[in-house]
Amino acid sequence: MKPKDNFSTKLIHAREPDKKPENALNNPIFMTSTFTFDSLEAAEAAFEFETDDYVYTRGNNPTLKIFEDKMAEIENGAAGVAFASGMGAISATLLSLLEPGDNIVAHQILYGSSYKLINEWLRDYNIEGKLVDFNDFEKLDQVVDKNTKVLYMETPANPTLEVIDIERIAEIAKENDCKLVVDNTFASPYLQNPIDQSANIVIHSATKYLGGHGDLVGGVVVADSRDYAMDLKFNYLTELGSVMSPFNAWLILRGMKTLKLRMEAAQANAMKIVEFLQADERVKSVNYPGLESKKSANIWEKQMLGPGAMLSFELDADVNKIREFVNNLDYFKLAVSLGDIESLIEYPFFMTHRDYDKKILDRLGISKYLLRISAGLEDAEILIEDIENNLQKL
Ligand SMILES: Cc1ncc(COP(=O)(O)O)c(C=O)c1O
Repeated sequence: MKPKDNFSTKLIHAREPDKKPENALNNPIFMTSTFTFDSLEAAEAAFEFETDDYVYTRGNNPTLKIFEDKMAEIENGAAGVAFASGMGAISATLLSLLEPGDNIVAHQILYGSSYKLINEWLRDYNIEGKLVDFNDFEKLDQVVDKNTKVLYMETPANPTLEVIDIERIAEIAKENDCKLVVDNTFASPYLQNPIDQSANIVIHSATKYLGGHGDLVGGVVVADSRDYAMDLKFNYLTELGSVMSPFNAWLILRGMKTLKLRMEAAQANAMKIVEFLQADERVKSVNYPGLESKKSANIWEKQMLGPGAMLSFELDADVNKIREFVNNLDYFKLAVSLGDIESLIEYPFFMTHRDYDKKILDRLGISKYLLRISAGLEDAEILIEDIENNLQKL
């Protein structure tokens, strides 16, 4: 992918109000539950969407609106909708697109809670979740049927970092008259914009790279259709109620100003860590977009500006030793989540992916030996030294 023009300028200036109250440089936070009207007529006009007046923060709020508009701009979509969390965004989106009797076909490797939602929870509402390998187009074609309404995937996938060809899957979605939903959390809008590859809906856990500082939970949906986004906002978000706090929107807007800088620095660290791990004999395998050994190696360059700052690797050691390894690291904090300033490590088999059927985890490459790293912004030499010191104890 070609470098992007003016991306940092967009992050900082796109869709900001022309004039802010009291000529402030930064946006105020509209911490208000409701908005007042001068007359009943003005209230009625707002309820009928005849004016842009705000009504109630569960429906709309000026601070949320700046975040939503900026997200639409940087994801090249028509409109954005903010949610209280990534899972709030994913669950409302799926409920808005699926009805009893429909099915959703998803890539087999997903974040644990998305897996549980698609594979278990939706079944209670007579919506079947089918998990297949999205790099096997033939299989995917066989599984999609007339009741399929959604194709759903993460790319790069959590935690195996597999890359999936968005454009190719979007073609299959179009041929079958269903929507393609892409969770773009791992790449961030700096490295990948799935709507450019004809995805219909992009979702982020804004908790991760967008916020970027590990101090909030949030989610956002960007759609290629404004009508769909408004339906999601006013007919699902408002009823399901997972609304983002204006304070969180403000924090995310602040975090987004440095998204490009943070992504580039974290990615540079990830590349150095990958290089180190690949050369170490105690490391059985390394997962990172673009590594030649992977079958999706040649796809990432088509749709991503860089391979990103997430990686995973298998250690050639027994599980107790690996448990000690993660417990003893100094700079890699043992935690779920990702995309923070601090480097994080987690053990998918025992943590984020524990809801998966244990029998299939191995087949999917999420083995008992796999660890996932979110590279942070510390000095690369210190991070590598931390890993090396603890590998020696294996
Ligand atoms: C890829 C991915 N999608 C969605 C989520 C859920 O986001 P949240 O924790 O903000 O609800 C996560 C959380 O880790 C994630 O890794």
